[in-house]
Amino acid sequence: MTEKKLKIKIRKAKLSDVNAVYKIGVEMKELGFSGKYKFHQKAELKEFAAPKKDNVFFVAEANGRIVGFVYAKIIDWSRPGWAMLDNLAVKEEYRKHGIGTHLTCALYKELKKRKVHYVQILEEIHHKSTRKFWKEKGFKETKVFVWAERNI
Ligand SMILES: CC(C)(COP(=O)(O)OP(=O)(O)OC[C@H]1O[C@@H](n2cnc3c(N)ncnc32)[C@H](O)[C@@H]1OP(=O)(O)O)[C@@H](O)C(=O)NCCC(=O)NCCS
Repeated sequence: MTEKKLKIKIRKAKLSDVNAVYKIGVEMKELGFSGKYKFHQKAELKEFAAPKKDNVFFVAEANGRIVGFVYAKIIDWSRPGWAMLDNLAVKEEYRKHGIGTHLTCALYKELKKRKVHYVQILEEIHHKSTRKFWKEKGFKETKVFVWAERNI
């Protein structure tokens, strides 16, 4: 796919985008949370897409189709000015066209408007290319945690 053919648009997510985002999310192997929960439930995505002061959710369209998304939650209750970037994803065949960077920039712009100046992410330790992406975006790796889980 050549870049010339791609008309990229970054815009705020709408409720009607949830199905497309969900499909990308569940099919993307890198996004699996854990054994039980593969991705956000549609209801959660609808919550993200609803206009709320603590959610920031953008989608990327390429030639009119949704091919990527990013969302973050502003953690205001205990840490003013702090956001958790929950997921950034671009469909594999649309990667390396700058879409991830455009989504990240749109997210930062919106977060800064809302007086957020600190963003935290969780990186999957084995995803070297993703870690490289974030490193190049200026993220410094600090602590390493292990995701542990059980049924109760
Ligand atoms: C991480 C991710 C979102 C990046 O998306 P992307 O759209 O490929 O991002 P960009 O195109 O902006 O940048 C990726 C690379 O392409 C390069 N690039 C950007 N535009 C380019 C262009 N026009 N031509 C060639 N290369 C280009 C960038 O310099 C960058 O280079 P690098 O591989 O050396 O780091 C994507 O790989 C992904 O969805 N990964 C799986 C999900 C994931 O792990 N998400 C993070 C968890 S929160």
